[in-house]
Amino acid sequence: MRMSDIILKKREGQELSPEEIKFFVRGYTEGNIPDYQAAALLMAVFFRGLSPLETAELTLAMVESGEKIDLSAIAGCKVDKHSTGGVGDKTTLVLAPLVAAAGAPVAKLAGRGLGHTGGTIDKLEAIPGLQTELSIPAFIQQVKEIGVAVAAQTRDLVPADKKIYALRDVTATVECIPLIASSIMSKKLAAGADAVVLDVKVGAGAFLPRREDARALARTMAAIGRQLGRTTVCFLTDMEQPLGRAVGNALEVREAIAALKGEGPGDLEELCLALGAQMLVLAKKAAGIDQARQKLTSLLKNGGALRKFQEMVAVQGGNPEVVENTELLKVAGRQEKVLAQAAGYVQSVDGRALGRAAVYLGAGRQSKEDQIDLSVGLVMHKKIGDTVEAGEPLVTMFVQQARYLEDARKLIAGAYKIGEEKPAPRPMVYEVIA
Ligand code: URA
Repeated sequence: MRMSDIILKKREGQELSPEEIKFFVRGYTEGNIPDYQAAALLMAVFFRGLSPLETAELTLAMVESGEKIDLSAIAGCKVDKHSTGGVGDKTTLVLAPLVAAAGAPVAKLAGRGLGHTGGTIDKLEAIPGLQTELSIPAFIQQVKEIGVAVAAQTRDLVPADKKIYALRDVTATVECIPLIASSIMSKKLAAGADAVVLDVKVGAGAFLPRREDARALARTMAAIGRQLGRTTVCFLTDMEQPLGRAVGNALEVREAIAALKGEGPGDLEELCLALGAQMLVLAKKAAGIDQARQKLTSLLKNGGALRKFQEMVAVQGGNPEVVENTELLKVAGRQEKVLAQAAGYVQSVDGRALGRAAVYLGAGRQSKEDQIDLSVGLVMHKKIGDTVEAGEPLVTMFVQQARYLEDARKLIAGAYKIGEEKPAPRPMVYEVIA
């Protein structure tokens, strides 16, 4: 079998056999297939797509590329959560301790930033001392002891995804339904949870902005879950604008801590309650969605969720004092404001442009090898539906290096559309697909 024949076959729009898919996944993971051939195949897949059978085979081949985690030592139903990637999406930082505080074990392996979106592991590493590289036995032990662990996907867990994900990030092949579905579901299957709640983002800040594409992605992932025996519930949620107000790693941790105190932005809290309630019901820790929401709401009010977060931070080697003193999170000292050019209502905010601006500031990677700066990013002062006066700040940028500052400023200024009409309020959750 030759890789060049496989590329050609997909370029011509033909269906690859399970053997060809396995050959690619194994060869690329083991380093026998070079980046340029893998990139060419990914681009062919981007344009030609994969059939349901090819997508399932790709998912399985990726699961088989590494170790599979056995969570049976943890009592109860383990429910995992995953987002398709958004801007300012710090949900896991809030949701994992919140759901754990309500009695459902959360064993969460998370990823790093991809393209214009951030990643939970980068965010967590903004907490001084916090370790995200846990061995699997330590990860399982932590969930047994305190009910929650959020750790980086280990090198041995779906190593194929680690390599393919990094390559997609720099070859413009992220926004592809079968590649996203196999990437997410292979990690969920290998990570061993009994059920999965998927947060599929819709709107300008999502990898797949259009509702029909997001729905197709949700259906593809639900079908993989069904075929491979995991209950999978997909939420289609709003990512037209960033979630909350902060974009950038330390800034987002700060906002997540506020949300855990019940003082977070409304959209973030609403999303955490919606996803969390579904997780509790799947884990059989609540009789129904309403009861689950009540339980979670009181844990945000009474400090239960915050204490669980603090416990997790301490056990993973981080400084638990960040919870009381968020000044311990290093945020870039230089602040630059982007001002409104006109007065009116904010009609729309291009989430992707804001995500790209944060990458320009250094909060995300522009190439596979880039080091990110956890202290930089931006905070939005205005969101869709807010009124604004000309000259008022729309966004504050937290800057360390001025190299791409003007590019970031231009992107942000262009991301805001201001008009006379007050736009209709946006729902957070559009649809739930079970
Ligand atoms: N999140 C993932 O884990 N994989 C993708 O391909 C996109 C978002």
